[in-house]
Amino acid sequence: MSFTFLCECARDFRAIGSPIPTLGMAVRLMVRQAGVKEGDIVADAGAGTGVIAIEAARKVGPSGHVIAVEMNENLCTKARKRIASADLENRITLIQGDAFKLREYLSDLDERAERFDSVLSTVPVSYMPDPTSYIKSLYDATKPGGTVVQETHFAQKVRHLFREVGLQSIHSAFTIITFAPGAVVSGTVPKEDKVSDQR
Ligand SMILES: C[S@@+](CC[C@H](N)C(=O)[O-])C[C@H]1O[C@@H](n2cnc3c(N)ncnc32)[C@H](O)[C@@H]1O
Repeated sequence: MSFTFLCECARDFRAIGSPIPTLGMAVRLMVRQAGVKEGDIVADAGAGTGVIAIEAARKVGPSGHVIAVEMNENLCTKARKRIASADLENRITLIQGDAFKLREYLSDLDERAERFDSVLSTVPVSYMPDPTSYIKSLYDATKPGGTVVQETHFAQKVRHLFREVGLQSIHSAFTIITFAPGAVVSGTVPKEDKVSDQR
């Protein structure tokens, strides 16, 4: 990770009103590891104040779309303001809801679009009673060949969960999450994922 990359992250995150410059590093890495590109349909699970959705929306451009899901009402209010200030309301659908239901929210929005090109999650999996079913729900919401990305302080555990549900090409990159060391773990849904297609 270069010094220039770190400076760019800090600058961008001051520009969108974030008080935490290091936040930019994890956010940028998540979008980069997912390989988000023009025209993609992307999910931001656990959207918080909307920083990842905004970064992803800039990458998908006017032909793509981001669905951002956050359960906390106050954070949704903050995210809505931040998305409006970034002038990205047309590209981001913000839903106050449950990150387990990404696929359902996508089909409510567009019944032809069944699955996302990539799913970016910052929901803290380590504290869940059944983290496997959460990672499985992310897998099921992602197209064959698409990418699931999870931010975590427990990379080993998340890599294990990714392997358990059948994600491939698992990769983790070191980052700083707010102020503590962590990682961004990514994995791809197999291209021949016929079983999930039929669900
Ligand atoms: C670590 S914060 C990350 C926030 C933001 N993505 C960021 O990078 O700044 C995790 C967020 O996930 C949200 N969250 C936790 N469980 C959730 C669930 N089941 N559905 C939707 N959001 C959830 C929390 O409210 C919190 O805002």
